[in-house]
Formats: sequence, structure tokens, C-alpha cells
Amino acid sequence: MPKINKDSTLNITLVGIGLCLLCSAIISFIAIQLRSVQENNVVLDMQKKIVSSAGLEKIYGSVENAMSNIKTLIIDLDKGEIVDINPESYELAKELREDGKYKFLSAEEDVASIKKREKYSKIYIEYKDNEINTLILPVRGYGLWGILYGYLAIEGDFNTVAGLEFYEHKETPGLGAEIDNPKWKALWKGKKIYQENGEVSLKVIKGSVLKSSNNFNYEIDGLSGATLTCNGVSNLIAYWMGNDGFLNFINNLQKIDV
Ligand SMILES: Cc1cc2nc3c(=O)[nH]c(=O)nc-3n(C[C@H](O)[C@H](O)[C@H](O)COP(=O)(O)O)c2cc1C
Repeated sequence: MPKINKDSTLNITLVGIGLCLLCSAIISFIAIQLRSVQENNVVLDMQKKIVSSAGLEKIYGSVENAMSNIKTLIIDLDKGEIVDINPESYELAKELREDGKYKFLSAEEDVASIKKREKYSKIYIEYKDNEINTLILPVRGYGLWGILYGYLAIEGDFNTVAGLEFYEHKETPGLGAEIDNPKWKALWKGKKIYQENGEVSLKVIKGSVLKSSNNFNYEIDGLSGATLTCNGVSNLIAYWMGNDGFLNFINNLQKIDV
């Protein structure tokens, strides 16, 4: 047998290539094995946000228990009606890419600066004794640096806020990102959305809300140094709770057997 020169250029190159192939095979194998775990974690994280927007994890003890009392539905925003679409097949980003599944908003309509609005929306309803206890609605709107994505939870009177939770945004830590501060989020619980004339009045103000204010029930303390993000939050509330958002569905809810 001819003696192999281990230090030859060919041998070193072959060993190098072999090692590279082996390492990439191992990495690919691990990535494939972890993909389902990652996808599962994304779903779990979203469920956590949905549940915590309404503070339901405390009531049910866990996100899993809370989710088992929540029904996921797809609604047609213009008609305000539930549609027969499998919620599991729904993905907002996909809806906003497919012709016929979204509309462009005019400058006048685009209160939340989102440019496009989907035709269908995925919403969540928590039931208690067969009655709607909480309605959890996806909301989004431009802050200072990008779109703020979150969930607004509303009590069964369809006017009282149960909570607000953002799951994605690009705001600055310590400034706009304070929208994630539990103390600020706690200010939302119990606030009202609609005036008696049906107008959306809930908004974030600059400074602190005075107890003596006539609008106490409709106002949230502003975050100092983050007025632009706060304006974005007010705008997204105004848009999504209005006619172009969930108002048709909310008006229909009393009539629909969900
Ligand atoms: C680097 C940098 C990051 C900022 N990030 C935010 C932000 O995330 N949200 C925000 O509303 N304002 C942010 N601001 C401040 C705004 O430019 C603006 O001054 C502020 O919103 C005004 O709020 P105030 O009236 O409460 O001071 C940032 C400013 C700088 C210089």
C-alpha cells in the first residue's frame, strides 16, 4: 500500500473539506430538529401576549388553561361578521400581501399610519358561563420608529378596557418602549373606550390624568419623553375601535350567537 503523506496539500485540503461537510451536516440536522421547537415557542409566546393582554393568566393559573377558555375566530372587518375560515391557516403578514385580502387606506382613513388594512382579522373571545367575558382584538399603528403590534382586551360590555399588551415594536428602551412597562399597562384596566354618543374617546394624554378631569375614564397618563409613541398608541386605538376597525363587529356582537 502506498504511504499517504498526511502533510501533503491534497490531504490537508481533503481533511478541511471533510470537516466542513461534517460540521454543516451537524448544524443542518440540529436546525431541522429545532425548527418545530422554535415554531412552537413562537405560538406559545403569542398566546402569552393574548392571555396577558386581558390578565387572564392570573385568573386561570396558566396560559394553557386560559387558552382553553378562549375561542379564536376570523371576522370580516367591513361586514363585522364571523367568517368560516380556519384561524390556524390565518397569518396577518400573508393577508397583507395577497390581492383582494387587503385595502389601501387613504391619508384621511389612515389614522394609525398602517397604509393597508386587512379584510379579515383574527380575534379572540374568552367565555364565562357561556357569556362573552373578554374580547381580545389585534391592533397596530405607527409609533415613532415603526409599527406597534398588540392586543387590546375589552370586557363583556364591549366598552371597558381589560388591558393592552404589545408584542412587537421598535421603540426606544427607556422612552417609547415604556409601553411595555407593567405600571403603565396597569393604567389601562377599567378605562372606557366609547362616549355615550359612540365616539372613541380613549387616548393617551401628555402628562398625568387628573382625578378631577371630566375625561378621567377615557384618559391614560402619557409617558414622559415619549409623546410620539403615545400619540401612535392613541391613533391606533382611534382607528381600530372606529368604523374601519372593529366597531361593526362590536355593534353586531349582541345579535350574533358566537
Ligand atoms: C435617540 C432618541 C430616541 C427616541 N426614542 C423615542 C421613542 O421611542 N418614542 C418617543 O415618543 N420619542 C422618542 N424620542 C424623543 C422624541 O424625539 C420626542 O422628543 C419625544 O417624543 C417628545 O416627548 P415629550 O414631549 O414627552 O418630551 C427619542 C429621541 C431620541 C434622541
